[in-house]
This record gives sequence, structure tokens and C-alpha cells, in this order.
Amino acid sequence: MAKFITTFLFLLFLPSSLLAIDTMTQFQSLPDGSTLVSEDEIFEMGFFSPGNNSNRYLGIWYKGIPVRTVVWVANRENPIKDSSSKLSINSEGRLVILSHNETLVWSSNSTTQRQVNSPIVQLLNSGNLVLRDEKVNDFESYLWQSFDYPSDTLLPGMKIGWNLKNGLNRQLSAWKNWDDPSPGDFTWGIVLGTTPELVIWKGTTKYYRSGPWNGERFTSIALFQLEFVSTNDEVFTTYNLDNKSVITRLVLNKSVYSRQRYNWIPENQTWRLYSSVPRDNCDNYNLCGAYGNCLVQESPPCKCLTGFKPKSPRSWEAFDWTEGCMQSEEWKCKVKNRDGFEKLSGLKMPDTTKSWASKNLTLDDCRIKCWKNCSCTAYANLDIREEGSGCQIWFGDLMDLRVASIPGQDLYVRMPVSATGFNVNVLVVNK
Ligand SMILES: *[C@@H]1O[C@H](CO)[C@@H](O)[C@H](O)[C@H]1NC(C)=O
Ligand SMILES: *[C@@H]1O[C@H](CO)[C@@H](O)[C@H](O)[C@H]1NC(C)=O
Ligand SMILES: *[C@@H]1O[C@H](CO)[C@@H](O)[C@H](O)[C@H]1NC(C)=O
Ligand SMILES: *[C@@H]1O[C@H](CO)[C@@H](O)[C@H](O)[C@H]1NC(C)=O
Ligand SMILES: *[C@@H]1O[C@H](CO)[C@@H](O)[C@H](O)[C@H]1NC(C)=O
Ligand SMILES: *[C@@H]1O[C@H](CO)[C@@H](O)[C@H](O)[C@H]1NC(C)=O
Ligand SMILES: *[C@@H]1O[C@H](CO)[C@@H](O)[C@H](O)[C@H]1NC(C)=O
Ligand SMILES: *[C@@H]1O[C@H](CO)[C@@H](O)[C@H](O)[C@H]1NC(C)=O
Repeated sequence: MAKFITTFLFLLFLPSSLLAIDTMTQFQSLPDGSTLVSEDEIFEMGFFSPGNNSNRYLGIWYKGIPVRTVVWVANRENPIKDSSSKLSINSEGRLVILSHNETLVWSSNSTTQRQVNSPIVQLLNSGNLVLRDEKVNDFESYLWQSFDYPSDTLLPGMKIGWNLKNGLNRQLSAWKNWDDPSPGDFTWGIVLGTTPELVIWKGTTKYYRSGPWNGERFTSIALFQLEFVSTNDEVFTTYNLDNKSVITRLVLNKSVYSRQRYNWIPENQTWRLYSSVPRDNCDNYNLCGAYGNCLVQESPPCKCLTGFKPKSPRSWEAFDWTEGCMQSEEWKCKVKNRDGFEKLSGLKMPDTTKSWASKNLTLDDCRIKCWKNCSCTAYANLDIREEGSGCQIWFGDLMDLRVASIPGQDLYVRMPVSATGFNVNVLVVNK
């Protein structure tokens, strides 16, 4: 019987062009050399060797694109040394890669413990590899899906971010090398906090920050339709395409330390680089230091915010902006004419690591809340839609400022009041 099944599968998977198959059952297995192909024949899954590396990995790539472009890898950290492995569904209903002597190389990490009668694996048209019950085909019931465990590529429909119910945190991590898919120290994910932000990390250091979600978009991203969802269950961002025939991918690329968007140009049979982040010097995290504003058109790009001066004028003159800026005049907490707020427009909102937010407060309440706490250094609306609503306040030095690529949000920075500033002291006394 076992022999019969093996022979049967051999025949089943051999003529791949005639029999493009997108599913596999528990009674079948996918040996090295065979592939699954999505129904629309856009994506293909199988074992491959990247670049000059002879190791074998299970991965997903574009079937019709001659330059092998891998979008997902299963056993990133467990390369296989020979071509004798196979993918199958084990008796517990998990997806497993077994080597020739049945050693477990990799296994899918189910998010649900639910057992199903007839599990199948399917490569969907979206490029998502899913494990599901043969008879049930809806998103909610997947036992496991590759989209939950991204490699270096974000395809349309994939999510970056958190499932708060089970703690799953979907992050992208670049390949270590062009021929080594193991996760490098270049990652992209959502940092939860008072306001979630998309952050790219180089090792443990912040490299790029999207700016907090302000109701319309992450303050600096507008290149593609980006949807942001924040509920009690989930915090994630994703993108979808209006035109399904456009082939596009976002990839985290460690060789240039950049997050790149590529579009496939069928006429020229080539990937065209459409955009990349960081876009310019000012996108580099906190280039100008605390209270330093980055103006990409200027040379040098760093200028202290209105009301601030370089903390160390000598290093500032030498283009070392790391120490940032300090108030030019003496500031005294809650002291009349020594404390107030200046409205600064068109800035990317500062790093929200040390911040607090509430959807309920008005901008006036927000100002008072900030003013009452001597560690508060700035406030702003949380949501800029319509007239603006909600309150965000910052504590400590304001970090990673630049001129926003899409202006539209005002930041009220605490400083000794100037003629144009808000004197909160007076404002509170009047109430
Ligand atoms: C890949 O291998 C080929 C043939 O051995 C060699 O010529 C080439 O330099 C290698 N490429 C890299 C980047 O190592
Ligand atoms: C199976 O093969 C791998 C190498 O291919 C080897 O490291 C491992 O020890 C083998 N396991 C058994 C149980 O033979
Ligand atoms: C997956 O495996 C890791 C360790 O390998 C474990 O920490 C985690 O809880 C597992 N489950 C999920 C859903 O990731
Ligand atoms: C979708 O994109 C394809 C390829 O770029 C193009 O040929 C087609 O006209 C587009 N369709 C629409 C409705 O924009
Ligand atoms: C990384 O960027 C370089 C230079 O733009 C490009 O040649 C290479 O193909 C990119 N790698 C990936 C994985 O997209
Ligand atoms: C294809 O390449 C040619 C020559 O480089 C260029 O002129 C043309 O604009 C390209 N076509 C598209 C659709 O980008
Ligand atoms: C904010 O307002 C909503 C609805 O008015 C209310 O349910 C909620 O408790 C308020 N939250 C806080 C923190 O006051
Ligand atoms: C000011 O805010 C900080 C940070 O949230 C907090 O630790 C501190 O207790 C607050 N001080 C007052 C007086 O409320």
C-alpha cells in the first residue's frame, strides 16, 4: 500500500506543467523537485537553493518570473544539505519538512490547537500557504498560514503587526545575505505603545520610524494604499491593490539597508525599483538629535527648532548633531512668562516611546494636561481627521523630528513663551 502511494505521488507530481496542483492532502507528500502552484499560476512553492548556496530550502516564488524571486522561506534557520527532503502533513495535522531519515527539519507552529479530520495544505493565489480543513475554506478557520510568519517580503494582503489575542507579532526580517535566507539583523514591525508606529530596526537600534498613526496615514507614508487597523484584538497595517494584475512587493533589503518596493514590468521582464525607505538623510532615525529638525533641502540639514539652540555649538558646527538642541531661553515649569507652548506646523510627529494618549480629550484639555506635568514637553491632536480630535502628550526630549513629507499636523512644543506662543498659565487662571 505504502509503495502504491509513493508511486502514485511520483506520477502525480512529475509532469508539473500539465498538472499544476495547488493542494496536498495528509496522504500525500511533496518531495524535493516537485512543486505546488497557485490556481492562477502566479505563485509556486517547492524546494530551492538560493544564489551560490547549495543548501535546500522550502520557499514560495513567482512562477512566471524568470529571475527567481523568493517571497517566503519556511526553514530559514534550518538549511537542508541534500535533495532528499519532503514536505508533508503529520498525524497531528502540522506541516512538517522531513529529511531522508525522517528527521524533523521544520514544522509549522499552529496558532490553533484544533484538530481537523482532513487537513490539506493549499497555495493560494495571494501567495499565502495555508493549512486548513478540506471542507472549510474561510480565512477565519485556517489552522496555520505562511502570511502569519513573514520572511523578508510583504505581499498585498499580508499584515504587519500584532494579534493581541494570541500575542502573534508579524515582523519582516531581511535575509542575512543574498544567498542566505536566515534572518539578518534588519527587521520591520509595529511597536505597540500609546500610539503604534511602524519601525525598522538595525540590530536593536531604531533605524527608521513611520511616525505615529494620525487617523489618515502614518505621517510619512503615502506611496501606496496603506490600511491601518487598531482594535482590541489586532493592531496591524496592510496594503491592497486596486489592480490585481499589478505585481508588486515590499522587501526588506539588508545589502542596502533599505525597505524597497519593486514593481514587475512585464514588457521589460524586470523588477523596477519604485520607492525605498529611508528616502533621504532625514529619514535616518534622530539624525539631528533632540529638538533638532531635519530639513532635507538645506545643507547642512539640521536646524534647531524655533526657541532652541545647539546644546554643544562646537560639535554642531562640526556637523555632529547627536547632542541635539536645548531651550535658548530659561524655561521654568508653570512660571508665568517662562512657560508656554509654541505651535509648530509641518513636522513629523516625534518618537512616541515616551508619550501618553487619549481619544477623549480636546486639544484645550490636552494643553492643560501637558502643562500640569513638568516632564511634558509637547502635545498634539491624536487624530487629524476633520477638525482634529484626541490628545497625545510627550515626556522628555523630543526625538526624530523632520519636516513631514505630508504636512497637516501641528505640534505644540513647550518653551518659554514668546509673543506668538500660548501662555497656558494665563489660560488656566482664566478657567
Ligand atoms: C557564485 O559562483 C560563481 C561560480 O562559482 C562565481 O563565479 C561567483 O563569483 C559567485 N558569486 C558570488 C557572489 O560569490
Ligand atoms: C539524519 O541525517 C542527518 C543528516 O542528514 C544527521 O545529522 C542525523 O544524525 C540523522 N539522524 C538519524 C536518526 O540518523
Ligand atoms: C511557536 O513556537 C515558539 C517556539 O518555537 C513558541 O514560543 C510559540 O509560543 C509557538 N506558538 C506560536 C503561535 O507562535
Ligand atoms: C491593470 O494593470 C495592467 C498591467 O499594468 C494594465 O495593463 C491594466 O490596464 C490595468 N487595469 C486597470 C483597470 O487599471
Ligand atoms: C537589494 O538591493 C540591491 C540594490 O538595489 C538589489 O540589487 C537586490 O536585488 C536587492 N535584493 C532584494 C532581495 O531585493
Ligand atoms: C523598457 O525598457 C526600455 C529601454 O530601457 C524603456 O525605454 C522603456 O520605457 C521600458 N518600458 C517600460 C514599460 O518601463
Ligand atoms: C472615552 O469616551 C468613551 C465614549 O464616550 C468612553 O466609553 C470611555 O470610557 C472614555 N475613555 C476614557 C479613558 O475616559
Ligand atoms: C508626569 O508624567 C510622568 C510620565 O507619565 C509620570 O511618571 C509622572 O508621575 C507625572 N507627574 C505628575 C506630577 O503627574
